[in-house]
Amino acid sequence: MGVCGGTTTLLMCLSLAAAHRNTRTNLCKWCDNSQPVCEGGVCYTNCSLSSYCETAEEICVTVWKQDNESVQVMTLCHHPHLPLENILLPPYNTARCVMQAVSADSGLLYMCGCVEEQECNDKLIFYNQSNGYSLLHSREAVPVAAISLIPPLLLAITVTSLFYLYRTHRLRKRPESWLVTAACRGGCSSVRLQNKLSSSLISTSQCNISMACANSINHNTELLPIELDHRVGKGRFAEVWRAKLKHTASGHYEAVAVKIFPAQEYASWKNESSIFTDANLKHENVLQFITMEERGSGLHKEYWIITAYHARGNLKDYLAHQLLSWMSLLKMAESIVSGVAHLHSDYTPCGTSKVAIAHRDIKSSNILVKSDSECALCDFGIALRLDPLLTADDFANSGQVGTARYMAPEVLESRVNLEDMESFKQMDVYSLALVLWEMASRCEAIGEVKNYELPFGSMVQQQPCVETMRDMVLHGRGRPDIPDSWRRHPGMDILCDTIIEGWDHDPEARLTAHCMAERFILMRQTDSDSSNLHSIFYFSQ
Ligand code: ADE
Repeated sequence: MGVCGGTTTLLMCLSLAAAHRNTRTNLCKWCDNSQPVCEGGVCYTNCSLSSYCETAEEICVTVWKQDNESVQVMTLCHHPHLPLENILLPPYNTARCVMQAVSADSGLLYMCGCVEEQECNDKLIFYNQSNGYSLLHSREAVPVAAISLIPPLLLAITVTSLFYLYRTHRLRKRPESWLVTAACRGGCSSVRLQNKLSSSLISTSQCNISMACANSINHNTELLPIELDHRVGKGRFAEVWRAKLKHTASGHYEAVAVKIFPAQEYASWKNESSIFTDANLKHENVLQFITMEERGSGLHKEYWIITAYHARGNLKDYLAHQLLSWMSLLKMAESIVSGVAHLHSDYTPCGTSKVAIAHRDIKSSNILVKSDSECALCDFGIALRLDPLLTADDFANSGQVGTARYMAPEVLESRVNLEDMESFKQMDVYSLALVLWEMASRCEAIGEVKNYELPFGSMVQQQPCVETMRDMVLHGRGRPDIPDSWRRHPGMDILCDTIIEGWDHDPEARLTAHCMAERFILMRQTDSDSSNLHSIFYFSQ
């Protein structure tokens, strides 16, 4: 290919021109970069080089790129079937180079292609754009760009609308059970999920984790069709209601729990919601989250958290009316411990990493009874994400929270080591040990079972204050009583040791929730090894 510039290479140019005229290739402007000049509605490339194209198929092309500061014009020969700047040329079968706006990888640019006339890519015509150069350098450039963006924008809007309609249609059709949809979040395998959901009122036959399950329903901004039934609980920040959730497709109702926060408890709702919306929280022993909602407006503004409903209510009320068999105690306690171990863990059961969470208000009234053998932790109103990126300063106000009766000695003393995030887990383990004691105290395996009492029940008033608990737990080192008679049962003997190691005065000496979970495996084994022996022992009494 011959490239000609000024007069210096005139002779060479003429000979090349003669050669190319015979093969009928196009003569085009050929500059990598030139500064165009514009007049009226026309611009000229201001390129002083030209070239005969190598092949007859190649046409003359001009590419006009610009940013806020400058315009850059490139002229060349180009085969129109090949992409340029990753795009194909706009229509080019004319002798005039008519500029067209195109959207390329590098942004918006203008291009034209032309044939037949010599150096036809020198004169650039901006139709409907009075003067390309001035247009593109003036404020009018915005409407030009906007007009050329209209078709892709319209397309994008149409596609988005169609997708939205499709999604809302699917959302209306799909949830056989809202619990199922929410349950999918963070599950490990569909088989396991199905097992866990078998107790749900309306269960699903299959769940594809990668598709349906990744689609957490709390992204849905529509309010759920819910009818409140009656109040089942009242806490510090919120009330809990049993409610009916209507399944629009089938007309069925599903019982759900709605935790209603008044406007002034927004922070508590926000905190609990932020804990629940972490998909990695999902666990069979953590209350099943469905969604969070803002309802009403102005003075009537309310914040809702919608979860699974458990008709058996909380563990405190359950123990008050119900004795536990050793097997029930073992399974229920194991489920609670494994719920706490999951919260505290840096890993999901699938092995992916997660942020550890401290509950900070573990007590029997914050544990729900799912069945005679399984419980779930609830009430994450003051739970804390133990994000490794946070520092002691971030935890500065995290010292003395929770319920005084269940507060660990270091919490009562306000001497929590905020530098070490394990401290928050150790506090939880202390409270957990008290809950295990409550359960043991209502278990048939201990022999004579007394009326239900909260830990330190007979020693303090109904809602003891921090000072009372400090005297007893911190200064007096008091703990609930574990009579020797409880230890006659081998499994219970291990449970008593587990409880004592859980409420150790020294936070660092306490068992971790994970170790506790392992103890339960031991208790199960002890139980199966000696089950015959035990039944003989207890029946002969
Ligand atoms: N009390 C608090 N939360 C509850 C729930 N999810 N189900 C039943 N009772 C509750």
